[in-house]
Amino acid sequence: MGTSRGEFGSRIGFIFAAAGSAVGLGNIWGFPSFAASNGGGAFLITYLLLSFLLAYPVLMAELILGRHAKANIISALAGISQKQWQKHIGFVVGVLGTLTAMLILSFYAIVAGWVIAFALEPFANLIGLNELALWFTEFSTGRNIIFMLAFMFLTMLIISQGVQEGIEKWSTRLMPALIIILLLLLIYVFFQEGALKGVKVYLIPDFSRLADIDLIISALGAAFFSLSLGVGTMVIYGSYIAKDENIVSLGFTVTLLDVGIAVLAGLLIMPAMYVAAENGVSIFNEAGALIKEDQLIFSVLPALFDTMGVTGVFIAFAFFVLMTIAALTSSISMLEVPVAYAVENLSIQRNKAAWLVGSVISIASLIIALNFGKLFGLVITVTTQYAQPLLSLVMCLFVGWVWYRNSLLNEVKAGFKKVEEGLFWKVWPNYVRFICPLIIVVVFLKSL
Ligand code: TRP
Repeated sequence: MGTSRGEFGSRIGFIFAAAGSAVGLGNIWGFPSFAASNGGGAFLITYLLLSFLLAYPVLMAELILGRHAKANIISALAGISQKQWQKHIGFVVGVLGTLTAMLILSFYAIVAGWVIAFALEPFANLIGLNELALWFTEFSTGRNIIFMLAFMFLTMLIISQGVQEGIEKWSTRLMPALIIILLLLLIYVFFQEGALKGVKVYLIPDFSRLADIDLIISALGAAFFSLSLGVGTMVIYGSYIAKDENIVSLGFTVTLLDVGIAVLAGLLIMPAMYVAAENGVSIFNEAGALIKEDQLIFSVLPALFDTMGVTGVFIAFAFFVLMTIAALTSSISMLEVPVAYAVENLSIQRNKAAWLVGSVISIASLIIALNFGKLFGLVITVTTQYAQPLLSLVMCLFVGWVWYRNSLLNEVKAGFKKVEEGLFWKVWPNYVRFICPLIIVVVFLKSL
């Protein structure tokens, strides 16, 4: 090896990169859809609580582990192990995490491909290419594959350029653009007829649903997915943080941004649905419940944009560009997991590794696209509902129990001298040792 590792050039560069990883389709597609079908405000409250009380501590475990090891998840888990059997487990869990990251990317790229296609549709319509427009928005294996490949291409292109020139540069360009587009869309939708109704549904909680176990499980899954936990993404991003940075506040800022943008996205989507209803678009299914999940973004919103004439073309474009950006800054963080391993442990050049590993993932994605009905939902369930919480659990156990407390403290202390006096150090170590594993196990068992 011997080559020097990449490192984020600045504090803000890391924040944009890690927030870019966190903010993705999960925030803009998943979160508002879940909220819509799970009692709006009740889901919001549960999600906020779980994000800060459970996901943030796990995020910190990953970031601290990564910066300490200065390595990918596979080496990092083996590195903090004291005994041979722990090293073996660490290795296996690291490999499983890396494979999970690859599998998540393989379904994510398909959804991201839809988003790109939907961004192009309004223009095809505008210039009279109606058949093409239809092809962009209608479900077909051909369309799914072509746009998935386009999206994977962009992801590989960025990752082949490395940490500063690829990840950091593009996240720093794209994240501010994302926030601006989101705010502009939000302001626009707020002034439309019917928006207020959506705001109410979103913000006023149905308290009777707070104790609903299905709601808690969905919210937990959303929080873990949203903070990119369990698969080594945050370990590898943590490993690119300089030693003199205060890692505790960095992690907190990333959590705030992630949660903040999810909440804002909900504030855009829920009112947009009611604006759509006002314009004659049907937003309820036969059973009288709000339309949910993919149909929300891929049918209700486009129908809404269609009612807006030429303005709608640009609004639709802005919205799907927003989603594309969000997806891209996330997908690069998934690809970085196996690529970092290939570069560091197998001594493959970054450029080669990026295209090689990316191609393998594209093939996996192709297989899913060709067997969509059988595999798409299955891969999502296996990776996000099972693998992510379980891998996060093991990560907590490693950081909380296997890693020597002193060395853990020293790692957090680097860049934050007074950490021992603060609340974080008083609470967090016991939190990752006891509370996080316990909650994950309980929720996981309930979900079975
Ligand atoms: N957090 C991203 C989102 O909300 C997706 C993501 C990126 C992710 N990296 C990940 C999810 C690693 C799970 C694991 O869309």
